[in-house]
Amino acid sequence: MEERILSESAHAEDQEEWSLRPQTLDQYIGQEKAKGNLSVFIQAAKIRQETLDHVLLYGPPGLGKTTLATIIANEMGVGIKTTAGPAIERPGDLAAILSSLEPGDVLFIDEIHRLSRSIEEILYPAMEDYCLDIVIGQGELARSVRIDLPPFTLVGATTRAGMLSAPLRDRFGVTLKLEYYTMPELSAIVTRTSRLFGFEADRMAAEAIALRSRGTPRVANRLLRRVRDFAQVAHQTAIDATLATSALDRLHVDALGLDDVDHRLLRSLAERFAGGPVGLETIAATIGEDAQTIEDVYEPYLLQQGFLQRTPRGRVLTPFARQHLGLKEGN
Ligand code: ADE
Repeated sequence: MEERILSESAHAEDQEEWSLRPQTLDQYIGQEKAKGNLSVFIQAAKIRQETLDHVLLYGPPGLGKTTLATIIANEMGVGIKTTAGPAIERPGDLAAILSSLEPGDVLFIDEIHRLSRSIEEILYPAMEDYCLDIVIGQGELARSVRIDLPPFTLVGATTRAGMLSAPLRDRFGVTLKLEYYTMPELSAIVTRTSRLFGFEADRMAAEAIALRSRGTPRVANRLLRRVRDFAQVAHQTAIDATLATSALDRLHVDALGLDDVDHRLLRSLAERFAGGPVGLETIAATIGEDAQTIEDVYEPYLLQQGFLQRTPRGRVLTPFARQHLGLKEGN
């Protein structure tokens, strides 16, 4: 059976995920640089009794962008409204959400790079002057009306800062880049979450899970859930390293956190394309995956860890990837 640990879908577990998420900066583990700066900006805004400037969060999926948006609202003591770029199709969708904001609220727009240009243009005056210029009526009867909005903080999240238009990017006063987490940070997150589960993982077990979490808390917490399943069925009340490692092996997550999709991707590059270079679309079609998902979810970690290189002519397999897969040079 193919195991996929990197899912982006929303289901019951994502509901549970909410209750596990840190609610304050103090509870949030890792991202020390982003957290340190954010803490200063929040304190300063509070001293001045102003709304926090607009914040852009960017980085690979699963690193805590949504969590940070919620924390910003909590720390500022304001409400939060959440939406996503693809959900805002018409100007009226954005107008409805903007006019529902209370003074000081956070508006969180996930996948903000997927807003259409016409929606972006409505957002500019909203961000700069807290007002909304909308056209009502059609033809000769069309007229523009200006609606005043309460001051608010837009928190935008994107996996691709480069896909944001320059005028939109420039309107964020604060830009925070989220990085992959270190092993000690991931291990601390696994320990924290396992305590919240009431199913403690010991230090070695937490480290074993952290090692295979590809630098990503979302993956760490998913793996922990599956390991907990194995522990529960084995009538164990805690998670030790032996149980964690055997569960992770059964999940087909290898020692460096690669799952079946990663393996198929790397193997197909080696075996069918002599290591590349190959275009993203070709690889995606060959292994039957969506090119966007590969680019957003799988590839960033493979690139960061040195399994793949991106060249102008396509993706290239590295000697390190060959070594990890146990393949000979030229295969
Ligand atoms: N759960 C998921 N991400 C976390 C983080 N950064 N800190 C603490 N718990 C988390």
